[in-house]
Amino acid sequence: MFNMKKAFITGIGGQDGSYLSEYLINKNYKVYGIIRRNSVVEHQKNRLENLNINKKIELSYGDVEDRTSLDNLLKKIKPDEIYNLAAQSHVRISFDVPEYTIKTNALGVFNMLESLRFNSPKSKFYQASSSEMFGRSVDKNGYQRETTKFEPTSPYGCAKVFAFNLVKHYRHAYKLFCANGILFNHESSRRGSNFVTNKVIKSAVEIKLGIKKKLYLGNLDSFRDWGHSKDYIRAMHLILKHNKPDDFVIATGQTRSIRQLCKIVFDNLNLDYKKYVKQQKKFLRPEELKYLKGDSSKARKVLNWKPEISFEQMINEMTDFWIKYYNKKT
Ligand code: NAP
Ligand code: GDD
Repeated sequence: MFNMKKAFITGIGGQDGSYLSEYLINKNYKVYGIIRRNSVVEHQKNRLENLNINKKIELSYGDVEDRTSLDNLLKKIKPDEIYNLAAQSHVRISFDVPEYTIKTNALGVFNMLESLRFNSPKSKFYQASSSEMFGRSVDKNGYQRETTKFEPTSPYGCAKVFAFNLVKHYRHAYKLFCANGILFNHESSRRGSNFVTNKVIKSAVEIKLGIKKKLYLGNLDSFRDWGHSKDYIRAMHLILKHNKPDDFVIATGQTRSIRQLCKIVFDNLNLDYKKYVKQQKKFLRPEELKYLKGDSSKARKVLNWKPEISFEQMINEMTDFWIKYYNKKT
């Protein structure tokens, strides 16, 4: 018990936070996390309740915008590892609520770093940076990597660039172990159903079952490099296990358009996506990030990381989830 490593996770109730908790508990960590108050109590730890790991983690109310809550917890826990996953993580919604997005995704990281510096300077710090930071920028050979310029195209992306730079600055200025994982899109059956993969899959199952008639989407011609969340949270842990703080791109190296995603998902259910998928203006973004394909050779070489779950396996897992969900309901 006394030798247990301690991890502190913000955003613990999210997709990645829930998988990461499970993963670290299996590695015999004591896991602490913050959740935000929600008027519907069940929503606060929905993904954690489902896992029944709830009893093994210590949850406190907290918010990355509330420095007092962070100071109190870090002073008391003094974690070995901190994973800062808290964010307003939806890119399109960041155009609707830019101020909240910037407060949480940029100033929230500043709060975390200051709290770490004064209360627990030996903790290793992981920042959930994002491929959205690349925006319009693609290297000549069609990939984005650690050296690719950041040209963000959303309030979300701009806030993540600020946070990325701050993390590097704290590493150099105060010699703290602060690292960035630049993760490309990653999905799972725990993904919010307003992100495109889960929206397409959930709707296709609903159409198959006669619950829904059409699927309304925004831009069908953007490309994304999609991996599985379970593979990506392994990378987060490896980044903090590395002997020095550094920044790593985590990606599969494969890219597909939203149109291709629709075809694959609907084909699996013996449906012709062209009959059901329609475009709707409200799902378009004021500026779109058109193309993502990540080169993760640094992480593969230095951390010995590679993805283990294929795109097809992931789509099948997510489709099965919704089929079972509706079967249980009827
Ligand atoms: P997610 O499912 O949306 O989870 C985000 C979590 O952050 C939620 O638990 C949310 O709590 C919490 N949160 C939001 N604002 C907060 C605040 N002010 N204080 C404390 N907690 C707050 O996102 P995810 O997919 O797990 O992603 C985890 C992190 O990785 C995020 O920082 C995201 O931006 C980043 N990222 C994700 C991807 C991806 O493809 N999934 C790729 C690159 C980077 P509530 O439920 O209370 O809102
Ligand atoms: N969400 C959504 N809904 N996206 C749509 C829709 C729709 O109805 N129709 C088309 N899309 C397109 C978007 O325009 C975008 O080009 C692509 O589908 C992916 O959208 P999302 O699944 O919302 O993800 P994202 O790429 O904007 O952001 C995700 O990945 C980032 C890493 O690159 C999020 O997880 C971010 O938190 C993460 O940082």
